[in-house]
Amino acid sequence: MLKFLIKFISIIYILSYIHSAQAGDAKAGAKVFNKCKACHGIDEGGKNKLGPNLWNIVGAPIAAKEGFKYSKYLLAYAEEAGNWNEENLDKWIKKPKDLVRKTKMIFPGLKKPKDRENIIAYLKANSN
Ligand code: HEC
Repeated sequence: MLKFLIKFISIIYILSYIHSAQAGDAKAGAKVFNKCKACHGIDEGGKNKLGPNLWNIVGAPIAAKEGFKYSKYLLAYAEEAGNWNEENLDKWIKKPKDLVRKTKMIFPGLKKPKDRENIIAYLKANSN
């Protein structure tokens, strides 16, 4: 019985580890988001700063936050790509200028895939 219990618990442990390794960790993402905070708020109905508010951004139309003056380059990308999803967000956060060459988001990007995964989990958590 004890052996069975130990096996059971270790399987649960391994599964949760695999899950968190794949899905990204919103809590860790909140920390990484400190790098974005100078320019972005993420509270619901929050104001745009130097960059647009990022509430509900995953799945949202690109460059469509009310009252923000986007560069024509991001607007052109929006025509072509439509919405933000995990794939194009990953590219954007990795190196914005690789996705939209002349964007006015002056940010070098996050090199570590884990940081990007976590930040995307955090963005997803801040949505409805
Ligand atoms: C120095 C200021 C600055 C920093 C730092 C910054 N951004 Fe931005 N961000 C901007 C600006 C400005 C835009 C609008 C770009 C344009 O119009 O070309 C933008 C646009 C975006 C968009 C597109 C929003 C939309 O409405 O389509 C996302 C997503 C985004 N930023 C995420 C991030 C994340 C995540 C970080 C941190 C890893 C970050 N940004 C760091 C200034 C910044």
